[in-house]
Amino acid sequence: MKIPKRIQPLIEDGLVDEVLRQLMSGKEATVYVVRCGSEIRCAKVYKEAGKRSFKQAVQYREGRKVRNSRRSRAMEKGSKFGRDEQESLWQNAEVDALYRLAAAGVRAPTPYGCFDGVLLMELVTDDSGDVAPRLNDVVLTPEQARRDHDAIIKDIVRMLSAGIIHGDLSEFNVLVDSHGPVIIDLPQAVDAVANNNAEWMLERDVNNMRNYYGMFAPELLETKYAKEMWALFEAGKLTAHTELTGHFEEPTEEADVDSVLQEIQDAFEEEQDRLARINSANDDD
Ligand SMILES: Nc1ncnc2c1ncn2[C@@H]1O[C@H](COP(=O)(O)OP(=O)(O)O)[C@@H](O)[C@H]1O
Ligand SMILES: [Mg+2]
Repeated sequence: MKIPKRIQPLIEDGLVDEVLRQLMSGKEATVYVVRCGSEIRCAKVYKEAGKRSFKQAVQYREGRKVRNSRRSRAMEKGSKFGRDEQESLWQNAEVDALYRLAAAGVRAPTPYGCFDGVLLMELVTDDSGDVAPRLNDVVLTPEQARRDHDAIIKDIVRMLSAGIIHGDLSEFNVLVDSHGPVIIDLPQAVDAVANNNAEWMLERDVNNMRNYYGMFAPELLETKYAKEMWALFEAGKLTAHTELTGHFEEPTEEADVDSVLQEIQDAFEEEQDRLARINSANDDD
């Protein structure tokens, strides 16, 4: 096909040899199938800032580190330099996340770098070499649903223990190949420690997966993986190998009130004892 303008620089640099076809054009990006030497790969071209929708909302950016203070000042002021910096941070966020996911052992496309706002990555394919379908187009048996839900929960745990939350995980951002689910679409990935929205974003991600797989294996709808993994993460006890149960006892308020009352009672009794000891010591005099 005719080479899209945004991919032209990659052709000139020898990173891409041929653009085979357009795969998708969404709100945030246009995705192409390209040939790089003998390899068939995927090229994701980000839309320019003004044409994108929700994913660069402030709530996702919170906690992203900008080390250089001139840059962060410029970004706060919204100058042209600042906007360019913001844009390049945004464009590199996904490739950065993909490298970190690969290091954490999460099933996601292998990244090959991001050049001029074009992310080159592995094209996820099915058994016959066709582009892998999205989870929302796949009908599963209950066993497949249970197995794939288990696999995705394990991947979410690996991500979280590496400090990353997807932030937009749904059946539209998971592909299915012959080994199971593959997580895609991460430009909005959230810093699990620094971002104040981390907890509810994790919960939304996990519950989206539960609700989708739960259509095929309804018993999954009873699970509480989000709360279980967040509690362990907050307590510093979550590792990539943590085996979860899907159960979580929510601390009830009554229990809290009881234990506070008990503590007050204990302190009161201790004080009574102390006063009694002082009195009896005085009596001895
Ligand atoms: N690595 C990949 N391999 C195969 N298909 C992909 C890959 N990355 C994206 N796609 C396809 O392109 C679509 C859009 O990509 P995505 O990263 O979700 O961007 P967005 O939803 O922001 O437009 C996906 O739903 C999927 O169908
Ligand atoms: Mg998407």
